[in-house]
Amino acid sequence: MKLNHLLAIEGMTKQEIETIIETSKPFKNLFTRSVKKVPVLRGKTVVNLFFEPSTRTRTSFELAAKRLEADVINFVAATSSLSKGETVVDTAQTIESMSSDIIVMRHSQPGAASLLSKNVKSKIINAGDGMHEHPTQALLDFFTIKEKKGKIEGLNVVILGDILHSRVARSNIYGLLTLGANVTLCAPPTLLPKFEGLNVNIEYDLKKALKDADVINVLRIQKERMESSYLPSLREYNSIFGLTDDKMKYAKKDLLIMHPGPMNRDTEIGHNVADSANSVINEQVTNGIAVRMAVLYLMSGTEMKLETIKS
Ligand code: NCD
Repeated sequence: MKLNHLLAIEGMTKQEIETIIETSKPFKNLFTRSVKKVPVLRGKTVVNLFFEPSTRTRTSFELAAKRLEADVINFVAATSSLSKGETVVDTAQTIESMSSDIIVMRHSQPGAASLLSKNVKSKIINAGDGMHEHPTQALLDFFTIKEKKGKIEGLNVVILGDILHSRVARSNIYGLLTLGANVTLCAPPTLLPKFEGLNVNIEYDLKKALKDADVINVLRIQKERMESSYLPSLREYNSIFGLTDDKMKYAKKDLLIMHPGPMNRDTEIGHNVADSANSVINEQVTNGIAVRMAVLYLMSGTEMKLETIKS
């Protein structure tokens, strides 16, 4: 399989998603070697074009591209000509004139990555476009679930929290349904948009949602995107929707606990729960590098076979 752009999980086939998950495995195996690099992107240039603050996702893409031996440029929006009025497309075209091959873009506007893909020759990876999608985060979540549970089809997956503002939630919902999971959304009504035509369960009671859950993906309360008051108070949110020790009594012993980060400890997730044996939050970060390497590999058009990476 060759990937052209990676703009959204919506519209991807089961086979495409599964291929990316499978392709990530040999890249993860590299991490235990003393030399963690393979020359898949040698001579190619990857540009990280981030118009929103990010530490985790940007460094993950940077490391992934460097482990594939690409030249990597980090373009920080605040110091660019954008503050002088240049448009995103102009900026990207300027960058492309420096012969970039792949542009990884994060932007606050939904559809920004898609717009860019129509206006430049480089391949585009959407690293988060406003409240729309964050495909590589969802792919690393799927990889982590598959690694820990052996499968995704038939699992009960709960997505908890600020679903309204979450691109991670949207990408997860589309992908999990495509992969055959049972998806339950749990949030206060003010943070739960309608997903017309999608086969998701809605549960306002976290204790009930936890009963049969195999996996729970806890989302950050995105205070920076909240224009009006969605919640009476964070303390009240924590007592009703926070995944805290007292709620864990209602969960299965082997519940897998995930969070895309950054976490608001003791708001959406309890301190002990975040650090518990059920939590795979740090492993998600490690897996993110492998999954992004797989995506870059599938985009690179390289002749290098996966077998050579495995051996
Ligand atoms: C997420 C994002 O930026 O969409 N974080 C991430 O990619 N590490 C989730 C969030 O900001 O809460």
